[in-house]
Amino acid sequence: MCGIVGYVGDKESAPILVSGLKKLEYRGYDSAGVAVVGNQVLNVVRSVGKLRNLESRVGAEPPRGTIGIGHTRWATHGRPSDENAHPHTYKGVAVVHNGIIENHLVLKEQLRARGHEFSSETDSEVFAHLIHEELERGADLVEAVRRAVAQIKGTYALAVIWERDPTRIVCTKESSPMVIGLGEGQNFVASDVPALLEHTRDIIFMEEGDLAVLSSGKAEIFNRAGEVVNRPIRKISWTPMMAEKGGHKHFMHKEIWEQPRAVADTIRGRVLLSEGDVYFEGWTLTADQVRALSKVTVLACGTSWHAGLVGRAMIEKLARIPVEVDLASEFRYRDPLVDATQLVVAVSQSGETLDTLAAVREAKARGALAMGICNVMGSALTREADLSVMTNAGPEIGVASTKAFTTQLAAFYLLAVKLGRLRGTLTMQQAQEHLTHLTGIPKLLEAVLRVEPQVKRVAREFMKSQDFLFLGRGAMFPVALEGALKLKEISYIHAEGYAGGEMKHGPIALIDERMPVVVIAPREPKEPYEKILGNIEEVRARGGRVIAIIDEGDQHVKTLADWTIEVPPACALLAPLVATVPLQMLAYHVADMRGTDVDQPRNLAKSVTVE
Ligand code: G6P
Repeated sequence: MCGIVGYVGDKESAPILVSGLKKLEYRGYDSAGVAVVGNQVLNVVRSVGKLRNLESRVGAEPPRGTIGIGHTRWATHGRPSDENAHPHTYKGVAVVHNGIIENHLVLKEQLRARGHEFSSETDSEVFAHLIHEELERGADLVEAVRRAVAQIKGTYALAVIWERDPTRIVCTKESSPMVIGLGEGQNFVASDVPALLEHTRDIIFMEEGDLAVLSSGKAEIFNRAGEVVNRPIRKISWTPMMAEKGGHKHFMHKEIWEQPRAVADTIRGRVLLSEGDVYFEGWTLTADQVRALSKVTVLACGTSWHAGLVGRAMIEKLARIPVEVDLASEFRYRDPLVDATQLVVAVSQSGETLDTLAAVREAKARGALAMGICNVMGSALTREADLSVMTNAGPEIGVASTKAFTTQLAAFYLLAVKLGRLRGTLTMQQAQEHLTHLTGIPKLLEAVLRVEPQVKRVAREFMKSQDFLFLGRGAMFPVALEGALKLKEISYIHAEGYAGGEMKHGPIALIDERMPVVVIAPREPKEPYEKILGNIEEVRARGGRVIAIIDEGDQHVKTLADWTIEVPPACALLAPLVATVPLQMLAYHVADMRGTDVDQPRNLAKSVTVE
């Protein structure tokens, strides 16, 4: 997500911080800043927009000092602005933070009651205040950080400096990456290795709950229990390009593997389990407004449209509101029937897809309320929509969308529960059950990543195929569409996704021994499962080769299909998140084996800002 760089040594820190941040630019960001201590005075320079804006501010009035921290921000709480950019400061304490503080609203309220005033809309600023409070109570910087962190519920990679202790950076992490770079008479901290490679290749990967104290001559690490620990120092031989990809061969592969974390971040802080409810920041819809809705219209393009198709099943089932899903490019030109009783949900990873934006404008002009499900805060969609649900997947760089899709599904599920509670179609207990299922998904995503060796074998077998068919029913139909889209996008193999029930209406004519058919066949719900078994028989009878994505332990389909990939079972509406992963991997490995440009496939763009 966001980028962190910290430096302590004998050189001027500001230029080192800015150049480290530049190495993290590829991750995407919307604002940046540095905080430097010199002569026991904290100097902070921040700027919304590109790093060159920060550079010119730093150039105009260079903040002097040999210790400092810097940050590139990817907004989650609070729009991109100078005020919301990190470092956040409070009375001489400066912090940079990656992650999400789930209980920031409660903490802010408590701090306000104790006289604190906040200068940003971010959750991260809370850290500066909590740390200062502990310093006031007599703690030293290390102890103050420890005590502040103990009050936080959430995830963090945090680096802190204090003008009255100008020789040490204190940093700590929980569920967000943080690495230490060791130098001669200087030490570094960063969220990612690329930021450090020009200075050192001796890197320590901090472990969960670690706290490190860096000074120019020493880097000391304590574990969660406060004991000094020796973490291994790794010699990093990665090229800068490899480092950007965290050691993965392609960004797409990295992003596939990030999905457990990305989905956890989408859910984090939003599930109110004891109340059986969902919390969305900036949510403005009342129960009366939601009850008065005549329908929900989902508008999107590409992969986001597939997410919308799964979202339809979720909202219709849990909130019992009719949902239509339209391709944004089609919606615009058919004189759509829209009025003020409708909620339009526009889904877009980038928030900049022209067709989606134009469709939202069209719907708004006709009186509809517009909601965005989006991954980029501050994007055109989040500015134009009346309210937005952020997916928090972090920057997605591979052109073929992966983690954006699964996080969109998680966001839709939260939305469906929220609407269901407001409409009264879900009891508290039912909502609790649904939310419990959702909070279990990151674990299932971790488990499903383990199918990669199996998927690779299938990829090797079928990499030379010219066509592929993907079949699914119910909520797995959009997954079949997505599997086919992934494959065609990056491997350039012709692939089609179909609803199982449509087989007899055309695609069956294509089946022969050269046609691999990927069938997504979870055991639940029962009826679609039985029907899809029929599809498998139809393919087999015509000599087609079946690759089935099945629930773990489903012996029956194992006897029918030529190849099976077993995935952990999930409840019917959430199973698409799990089943999509092996399909992303299949596309990835086939493409990689064919030697295509996986991250930047020919003729495609990450964000389509033209018609
Ligand atoms: C492009 C991308 C796709 C994406 C689609 C919609 O075609 O290559 O991966 O699904 O645009 O993008 P959006 O940013 O609106 O989700």
